[in-house]
Amino acid sequence: VSLLPVLNAREAGAVPAPGGQAAAAAERFAVPMPIVPVLKPVSTADGTDTYEMTMRSQTKEILPGLRTELRTFNGQFPGPTIKARRNRPVVIRQRNELDVGVSVHLHGASVPPEDDGGPMEVIAPGAERVYTYPNKQPHAGLWYHDHAHHTESESVYRGLHGAYLLTDDEEEALPLPKGEYDVLVSIRDAHFDTANGTLQYQMGDRSRTTLLVNGAPYPYFQVAARSYRLRLANHSNQRFLELRLEDDGEMTQIASDGGLLPRPHTTKAVYLTAGERADVVVDFSRYPVGTKLVLKNTGFAAVDDVSQVMRFDVVRTAEDDSSVPNVLRKLPPLPEPTAERTVVLRMDEDGRPDPKAYIDDKVYDHARVDAHIRAGASEVWTVTNANTKVPHNFHMHLVQFRVLERGGAAPGLEEAGLKDTVRLMPGETVKLQATFDAYQGEYVYHCHMLDHSAMGMMATMKIG
Ligand code: C2O
Ligand code: CU
Repeated sequence: VSLLPVLNAREAGAVPAPGGQAAAAAERFAVPMPIVPVLKPVSTADGTDTYEMTMRSQTKEILPGLRTELRTFNGQFPGPTIKARRNRPVVIRQRNELDVGVSVHLHGASVPPEDDGGPMEVIAPGAERVYTYPNKQPHAGLWYHDHAHHTESESVYRGLHGAYLLTDDEEEALPLPKGEYDVLVSIRDAHFDTANGTLQYQMGDRSRTTLLVNGAPYPYFQVAARSYRLRLANHSNQRFLELRLEDDGEMTQIASDGGLLPRPHTTKAVYLTAGERADVVVDFSRYPVGTKLVLKNTGFAAVDDVSQVMRFDVVRTAEDDSSVPNVLRKLPPLPEPTAERTVVLRMDEDGRPDPKAYIDDKVYDHARVDAHIRAGASEVWTVTNANTKVPHNFHMHLVQFRVLERGGAAPGLEEAGLKDTVRLMPGETVKLQATFDAYQGEYVYHCHMLDHSAMGMMATMKIG
């Protein structure tokens, strides 16, 4: 088992997984990009949207002519999109018909501890659980996924992930692209046995070299020559993506994990580590109808198979009254910090037989509280990746935090908004500030490269 995740580009393409085939290329741009369906509530009574979902095994055709068995929400891959509104609670009854325990976590959400879907709060096979999401936080592009400790990595990889888009009046009042021009683009990698379509899973696998967008391999997406809001989400287990248009054309990043940025950020590349989201507005009116434009990945290990993600085909003209305002959002001023803390992420790099991953030199233990936090505190956390070759990222439950510094300098505009997951390249340090004024109780923080958190790179904070 190789531990080093996708560091060296040449190497990464060259290592077939034991037992499986080398990942052969699915044909490029041969299938349309699916639009992920929005789930309908079973009830909207009493100001609450109530949903029912069943987690079950489902076989789907992903590679042409082959059947792939997946772990799904409602038989769908990716899981259905939930659309929520601020201050309107959502209740989801999750029934587990899989043969593995599942904990459904709403990533990026401010929820009470019993509804957070923590690693030990597992729904046993055959059981069900009702999650209540108050939606008191501002708009944000969230997502839900399995979090059952040790098996989350494999279960998310096998399909247990979906988007949860929370909006509010502030976001809706802006003249941004809406409706069919506001599109979820959920990107993740996978390793198929190309002889039979089976999904191959092993920790640290470097052969997850088929890219899926909304569940389809390297799709094309037919667009009108106008502006689109693309909600880019990296739902990979480990892979870091650096997304850019093949002509190096500009994209306007308008949102990050926790919703709109204070101001739009014009960029040629969007970097997304596993779990991160970024919304961009791309104006396709600058291309003549007939243009075909590849979305490229130039991130780590962007060898042949993963250097192209999907293709935009400009097929028609369309009216466009959308625009991107110069000011998207006013974030409240940061409170005076009440405490400071350091966090060090590290994992065994030397290819030991039973490798472990640590936070502050400790492997995750659910019975231990690693950080005691006063209710209402606003803390500055200095988080360091102590590895010299392995990248990590850092995700906290419950809060949307602010990035104060990256490598001692002010962060770029792309990190000026609310974040719940940040990139930590080898040796890198990020300073962030989080305010714990919503709920009290125990929540985890961890590396969101799920193979790493499953190996122990996770810890518990207790608020109050
Ligand atoms: Cu996306 Cu602890 O999770
Ligand atoms: Cu990590």
